[in-house]
Amino acid sequence: MRRIGQGRTAEIYAYPSNQIMKLYHADFPTEAVQNEFRITEAVFQKGLPVPQARLYMDDATRKGIIFERIEGSTMLSLMIQEPVLIEELSRQMAVCHHSLHAQQDDEGALPTQKQILTGAIRNTSLLSEEDKALVITYLSTLPERKQICHGDFHPDNVMLNETRDQHWVIDWMTGMSGDPAGDVARSWVILMSGTLPEDADPAVHRGFELARNVMLNHYIQQYIQISGISRQELDAWILPVAAARLDERLPAVEADQLIKLVQDRIRLLK
Ligand SMILES: Nc1ncnc2c1ncn2[C@@H]1O[C@H](COP(=O)(O)OP(=O)(O)O)[C@@H](O)[C@H]1O
Ligand SMILES: [Mg+2]
Repeated sequence: MRRIGQGRTAEIYAYPSNQIMKLYHADFPTEAVQNEFRITEAVFQKGLPVPQARLYMDDATRKGIIFERIEGSTMLSLMIQEPVLIEELSRQMAVCHHSLHAQQDDEGALPTQKQILTGAIRNTSLLSEEDKALVITYLSTLPERKQICHGDFHPDNVMLNETRDQHWVIDWMTGMSGDPAGDVARSWVILMSGTLPEDADPAVHRGFELARNVMLNHYIQQYIQISGISRQELDAWILPVAAARLDERLPAVEADQLIKLVQDRIRLLK
């Protein structure tokens, strides 16, 4: 099979009948793969623009999911290939994100944002127990909502067709129901501090660093404009979202930057 993509969790191979196979790294937890299958199915059934998950596969060594294949490119690769498009694509990213948030998880098919964030904050070894307790108490004061949230919405998880008038959102492993402001805050944190895999092409790294601030400004501005949420509502979620991200196996530079952000914001709580 021909490899057509690679992320931090999996390799993507072309598969017969206009499908792809997402093959997870060997040590990847089964439960997380099953979650991705289940959550993708749930949001697909809601009519959201996501590739259909067709089959879950588990052999002795690796787990995989067969998905409908999307003919197109990720927003990230388009931004890097054609930097003049960055502003327009960032605004389109906001429109796409907002369209997910228009739907609610009335069936309770998805895990809740507060459960996920609380679990991750409890689990991180990069904060003291006292700081974790402060952040968790603060999180409990934030709004509780049931909108569809992606949990990892960034330009490598949105694909566009060639004419750029149709989009799909991929990679739903972290899908949850919650307050869209928290989902946008998570994208803010990723765009602000996220890095590409170390083995990515140096030109791609440079392109991403140049794009970072433009992406951040245009995406956030556009989201605020179309959703009517305020910058304060969004900002309120930065602390718990950044603290929860410390539970991911982040490269050291990212972790250091986030620890500083979290500690600055905890100081403001005290
Ligand atoms: N359904 C799909 N159709 C076509 N390409 C895909 C599809 N799903 C993923 N890809 C490609 O594979 C890459 C990694 O997929 P993704 O699901 O985001 O994996 P990861 O969890 O490792 O980030 C994407 O950025 C995209 O280029
Ligand atoms: Mg991805």
